[in-house]
Amino acid sequence: MAEDLQLADGSKTDQYRSLLPQIGALTGGEPDRVANLANVVAALKQQFGWLWVGFYLVKDGELVVGPFQGPVACTRISKGRGVCGTSWQERRTLIVPDVEAFPGHIACSSLSRSEIVVPVFHQGEVVGVLDVDSVELNDFDEEDRRWLEELVADWGNWGR
Ligand code: SME
Repeated sequence: MAEDLQLADGSKTDQYRSLLPQIGALTGGEPDRVANLANVVAALKQQFGWLWVGFYLVKDGELVVGPFQGPVACTRISKGRGVCGTSWQERRTLIVPDVEAFPGHIACSSLSRSEIVVPVFHQGEVVGVLDVDSVELNDFDEEDRRWLEELVADWGNWGR
């Protein structure tokens, strides 16, 4: 497919509705996981302009940073540490309206004010997390959770 992303205006719903099928088209048929993850985070960053969008992938019992867009980030996160490690441990999406109020939050960028972390499941195991950071306080809600969970449910089609 053409590599041009059609950026949507309008409500968050409108933006996700327009973006997810385009991500499906971008990743569909491409067997290389790193290539697909790179385009997923680039598409999210382009549409929403968030500070940081990226994957941390479970490798040898730790989260290791994967494809991302944004400022340089910490490389490794242990299970149970920070928002990402807690999402992994608790196997659930975490919405953090104010990162300073989250005990143990790992500040990769001082510009980050709120965050959402969505675990990625494969065959019942958490294989990574999608982490999104915003410069705005309270930037993520149930709607982001729903759409981002739907997005990462496509992991099985993102190659190996
Ligand atoms: N804030 C995350 C660390 C990753 S960076 O935000 C990119 C955390 O507390 O797990």
